[in-house]
Amino acid sequence: MEKKNLDWANIGFSYIQTDKRYVSNYKDGAWDEGVLTSDATICLNECAGVLQYAQTCFEGLKAYTTEDGRIVTFRPDQNAKRMVSSAKGLEMPPFPEARFLDAMEKTVAANAAYVPPYGSGATLYIRPYMFGSSSVIGVKPAAEYQFRMFVTPVGPYFKGGVRPLTIRVSDFDRAAPRGTGNIKAGLNYAMSLHAIVSAHEEGYDENMYLDPQTRTKVEETGGANFLFVTKDNKIVTPKSDSILPSITRRSLVYVAKEYLGLEVEERDVPLSEVAEFAECGLCGTAAVISPVGKVVDHGREICFASGMEKIGPVTQKLYDTLTGIQMGRIEAPEGWIHEIPIK
Ligand code: PLP
Ligand code: COI
Repeated sequence: MEKKNLDWANIGFSYIQTDKRYVSNYKDGAWDEGVLTSDATICLNECAGVLQYAQTCFEGLKAYTTEDGRIVTFRPDQNAKRMVSSAKGLEMPPFPEARFLDAMEKTVAANAAYVPPYGSGATLYIRPYMFGSSSVIGVKPAAEYQFRMFVTPVGPYFKGGVRPLTIRVSDFDRAAPRGTGNIKAGLNYAMSLHAIVSAHEEGYDENMYLDPQTRTKVEETGGANFLFVTKDNKIVTPKSDSILPSITRRSLVYVAKEYLGLEVEERDVPLSEVAEFAECGLCGTAAVISPVGKVVDHGREICFASGMEKIGPVTQKLYDTLTGIQMGRIEAPEGWIHEIPIK
């Protein structure tokens, strides 16, 4: 199969339309069998649930070309599962996990020419999502839904690749206590838009959100969880009911313990403790693990001892091990790598 002629090394994190996407519709209490289509346009009633009351959730995962030329995805079963929990949280009919995996195999295989080559620095981002498609005017769930999945080749999420980021402590919250912070609801991202635009305007790469109840503890950023490294090389990551349970973060915790022999603490992280850490990273599918050099809390600068100039040594080891597993250079734990059959 011949690859598309894209400038793989220089693509950013933006949408490039590819050949095929998967669509399945839910009507009369059942999902139809689903098809691949070339049509990237959606036609909806003006009163569709997604348009009126933001009834939509999504997922994000990646396909990689391994050193030996296979196309693989990383723990897609976890995305399928999380999408079920997001759907339930928004009163949407879950898309069955086995169907999610089947749709993913079909969508990636149909766009295999867009999977960036091994070593190019780019990957294929896979975006499954679903939304209320039938009309609702009283506040209630829609009766009909659409599940879709498209792919787009992407480069690094943060401009400039792996470089230490500067983030600010946000005055806005991304999620309410006992709200939707722990599911991947589109509405969480809508309400982060003002915060991210104003952060960028002020020269910051991202926002550090605090816990919405007390505003004293670190939660996450708009699109990634935090991992901190203590001065004695322990990993610390915030535990909270209002953050998204990142698959990357959970995988890095495993990698830290089982591959690197590091101690890991998942617990409350008071903002006042952040200055004590040696390294800080943002972890997620899009972010992979992006080093943070500086956190600015209303004019007070917290600079990480290791990691201001370049990625710190422990963050680097985590990055190398995780990406090594994803690209097939390092043996993966059982069940983490899902190969895409290409006919
Ligand atoms: N937190 C938020 C708010 C996100 O949007 C994401 C991205 O999916 C993550 C964390 C990281 O999650 P994952 O590692 O499963 O991609
Ligand atoms: C991801 O990492 O997949 C995300 O969803 C983060 C962002 C692009 C929304």
